[in-house]
Amino acid sequence: MKDDFDFYSEDFQANPGPTFSRMLEKCPFHHSEKWGWYSVFRYADVKNIVEDTETYSAKFGPGVDYAPADRPAVLVSADPPVHTIQRRAIVQGFNSRTIRAMEPGLRAFVNELIDDFIDKGRCDLIQDVAVPVPLWIICNFLGVPYAENGERFRSWVEVMAASVFSQDKPEVQLKGRDAAMEIAAFFTPIIQEKMEQVAAGEDPGDNLLGMMAKADIDGTQLTLEEMLGFAQFLLVAGSGTTTNLIGNFFKLMLDHPEQRAKLEAQPELMEQAIEEVLRFDAPVHGLFRTNNEPVQLGDLDVPKDSKICMMWGAANRDPQVFEDPNTFEIGRDLYTLRKNMTFGWGVHKCIGAPLARLECRVVVEEISRRIPKYQDGGRRVAYPYATLNGLDHFDLVW
Ligand code: HEM
Repeated sequence: MKDDFDFYSEDFQANPGPTFSRMLEKCPFHHSEKWGWYSVFRYADVKNIVEDTETYSAKFGPGVDYAPADRPAVLVSADPPVHTIQRRAIVQGFNSRTIRAMEPGLRAFVNELIDDFIDKGRCDLIQDVAVPVPLWIICNFLGVPYAENGERFRSWVEVMAASVFSQDKPEVQLKGRDAAMEIAAFFTPIIQEKMEQVAAGEDPGDNLLGMMAKADIDGTQLTLEEMLGFAQFLLVAGSGTTTNLIGNFFKLMLDHPEQRAKLEAQPELMEQAIEEVLRFDAPVHGLFRTNNEPVQLGDLDVPKDSKICMMWGAANRDPQVFEDPNTFEIGRDLYTLRKNMTFGWGVHKCIGAPLARLECRVVVEEISRRIPKYQDGGRRVAYPYATLNGLDHFDLVW
């Protein structure tokens, strides 16, 4: 099978599930002559590749374009042992105590958002709730005020995320580079100040930037470029992804009223429900590795330094791992559900996963509590870029 799979096609973007099932069955490894890259669909193959960091590197970045060699390797673009040091420098910021501590503030923020529209009887779930919530979280994480910065972050992250898969929209690549430079200009003085505080023996604070500035991993400190790269990446990694998780949750509940009724009757299924939404409709279809040596994938000879896409969304529909994978069912057992690859796998597995789950749960709980009779408002506009799977506008009415 050659170009039977076109990642950028409207058909695939609108509803990836059927294509994933077809490729899993008929063509588990694919090379696109049109776009030049390879795709891996089966769960076991994706897992083997991401676990073999010697052969399959992250150094050219998770996106479809080759990250420039002069850009410092940061976290998702770094291989062990550099990656191991960087991850250790930030892991504390994502521990369960820190995340639990964010919940009351997050709940209050979600309620402020609801206050703004509850009397109107309608909202655009995506723009009014699912976009601001992750941006608020990231501002808090990085220690910059949301009220002053939320809007500018919103415009940056949209183009940055879009540029991860932008072969079909070359103008987006340029905008992505501009946004990256603007983010760097914004964060450089903030990070420099934290580094100066550390040098002067002062405490730069416990937000993520402060934590990175004072991190000392076996005598190694993070550089300004690494911290900058991390701030840029975090903005993109943690925002649109979570926006789409929240949007996909409400979309799937409205499209499967029996599942919504089940969750209302058994609220203890919330964890499974979120995990099933993640499995069924992964916000990120897939991300890339690059092979350090020529490899064979099925009957494809893959030359060194090829871009190979791990299709997380397809691995989630693999019948070898998930029974009846094309059925949306929140009653699945949590142990199996947690095998979903929506947050990736191996050393780069998403460090923000608990945070994304928390954000989704708090939004669902608060909207369900205050607007229990919400219904589909009839307007759904798809997310306009191929990087993410979800909606850009989604009206709810009550
Ligand atoms: C539903 C929401 C999210 C999804 C679907 C998602 C997805 C992913 C995926 C697939 C990876 C693996 C990348 C790879 O292997 O190349 C990843 C890594 C990462 N994510 Fe997330 N993510 C989400 C939310 C978040 C949040 C909320 C944050 C932080 C605020 C975050 C921060 C990160 C970071 C820092 C990494 C890199 C980890 C490493 O390389 O060690 N993500 N994410």
